[in-house]
Amino acid sequence: MSTAVQNETAGPRHDLKPILSARGLIKTYGRVVGLDGVDLDLYPGEVLAIIGDNGAGKSTLVKALTGAVIPDSGEVTLDGHPVNFKSPQDARAAGIETVYQTLAVAPALDISANMFLGRERRRPGVLGSVFRMLDKKGMKADAGQSMANLGIATVQNMDQAVETLSGGQRQAVAVARAATFASKFVVLDEPTAALGVKETGQVLNLIRQIKARGLPVILISHNMPNVFEVADRIHIARLGGCAGIITPQSHTPTEAVAIMTGATTLERG
Ligand SMILES: Nc1ncnc2c1ncn2[C@@H]1O[C@H](COP(=O)(O)OP(=O)(O)O)[C@@H](O)[C@H]1O
Ligand SMILES: [Mg+2]
Repeated sequence: MSTAVQNETAGPRHDLKPILSARGLIKTYGRVVGLDGVDLDLYPGEVLAIIGDNGAGKSTLVKALTGAVIPDSGEVTLDGHPVNFKSPQDARAAGIETVYQTLAVAPALDISANMFLGRERRRPGVLGSVFRMLDKKGMKADAGQSMANLGIATVQNMDQAVETLSGGQRQAVAVARAATFASKFVVLDEPTAALGVKETGQVLNLIRQIKARGLPVILISHNMPNVFEVADRIHIARLGGCAGIITPQSHTPTEAVAIMTGATTLERG
């Protein structure tokens, strides 16, 4: 069901052209500058982390890439083609899935209903076309398969209402849904902010699984150890701009925080 290509050499491919390129993104809210001419590239197979203080413009940046915010100016290309998303639905249709920090699941629905929320499949033939009957069995089987593919073994029963799951499992459902339907890349905005240590570990594993399947991930996170564990590159947002791009090899978490807060300035090459 996912169109993600199995990638034998899963990992960042900076020799390839970026999947996503943004140039000069500007977004102001009255006098507040949300984005101050930001550039961003996302390469095939990489986890790109975005870190930054509260209000640095992290969420505005990913919203501008995913149709939730329309930038005042700037350009975004997807696979080399200019895109102008007017809504998150436009971005989803183009293969971009976003999981927001505010939990993006419907608690009373079961897992497979959540997976297919807004994309429900009808049964084949007249049962579907005339009687509008849902293909619940097929969706359940596929939801179970996606969860299994992503290594989510802790959820036994696809009929279980999402409200009965732990926070980590719920977040896993939201991430699994994104991973299942994304064909270009997945965006996770603070996916572990509300989670405990063990649940955070599960979500990090999911991120690795998504990457292993060849799908790039943009991860916004405040958690330096997490970021340094999974990211290939780290985009440091600061005051609506970008204070630099580092890697876990080039800098320490302490140095990253110093750049983030402005205590250190990164030499730009
Ligand atoms: N809808 C909005 N209306 C007004 N100001 C906003 C809005 N969204 C974000 N901002 C402002 O833009 C700046 C960047 O916000 P945001 O992207 O949410 O930061 P971050 O995600 O890094 O915490 C902040 O100063 C914030 O107050
Ligand atoms: Mg934010």
